[in-house]
Amino acid sequence: MTRLNGKTAVITGGATGIGRAAAKRFIEEGAFVFIFGRRQEALDAAVADLGPNARAVKGSVTDEADLDRLYAAVKAERGTLDIVLANAGVGSLLPLGKITAEHIAETFDTNVKGLIFTVQKALPLMGEGGSIILTGSSAGTTGAPAFSAYSASKAAVRNLARSWAEDLKGTGIRVNVLSPGPTATELAKAAVGEEGMKVFAAMTPLKRMADPAEIGAVAAFLASQDSSFMTASEVAADGGLAQI
Ligand SMILES: NC(=O)c1ccc[n+]([C@@H]2O[C@H](COP(=O)([O-])OP(=O)(O)OC[C@H]3O[C@@H](n4cnc5c(N)ncnc54)[C@H](OP(=O)(O)O)[C@@H]3O)[C@@H](O)[C@H]2O)c1
Repeated sequence: MTRLNGKTAVITGGATGIGRAAAKRFIEEGAFVFIFGRRQEALDAAVADLGPNARAVKGSVTDEADLDRLYAAVKAERGTLDIVLANAGVGSLLPLGKITAEHIAETFDTNVKGLIFTVQKALPLMGEGGSIILTGSSAGTTGAPAFSAYSASKAAVRNLARSWAEDLKGTGIRVNVLSPGPTATELAKAAVGEEGMKVFAAMTPLKRMADPAEIGAVAAFLASQDSSFMTASEVAADGGLAQI
């Protein structure tokens, strides 16, 4: 498919997991992709795999100066930007009673504040036909034991798209949320462990975890003109977990 021919995309958290799978799919569909993350070795491995239409910028979404460097690199090489997949995220478990200020700060600084500045700082490079995709989660809709901070941060992400669709009126830029369910990635393994992953998989009507490529395919749909009449929406790619 060539739905993204000539398009330029930024994917935060694009070196691993869902972001990496989306980068691969975007490039297969014709895009030029900038991936962004904190670990140089992960970025290097991803770019080696993704090929000549990928670039990596090292940095944290929690650092505005890092985001400025990311968009300066995009501007210098491509001039404009068509697609932002604000996907960098962290998640860890702490039950009510054990929640710490550090836990809240880490979760919200990355998943909410970092995502806000990822999008806000992209806007000067974007225009008519632009697509912003925010990675939410089925956890933004459901409850899960010990997962309240993460789940609340993803509920916030879902709501940001509703207000931003209003703020973006007249720009021709769309904004949507892509909410995966349990997906076989580093984050899922670190957050809930192998056993926890099996439990989440069993809870979905499809009885399995997603392969990251299945989420990347939905991201490509939202990035492309195939979703041209969609804004402020949430697309669940969650095996039905939060839909039943
Ligand atoms: N896997 C699931 O079951 C699942 C389900 C629903 C939603 N999600 C969401 O999907 C997104 C991607 O997660 P994943 O499952 O693919 O896990 P992952 O492989 O751990 O991906 C997370 C990515 O975010 C990057 N990242 C984390 N903090 C960052 C920061 N401060 N600045 C820049 N990059 C940062 C990480 O790279 P560095 O560590 O190198 O910075 C990593 O590449 C997250 O938003 C997650 O909440 C995942």
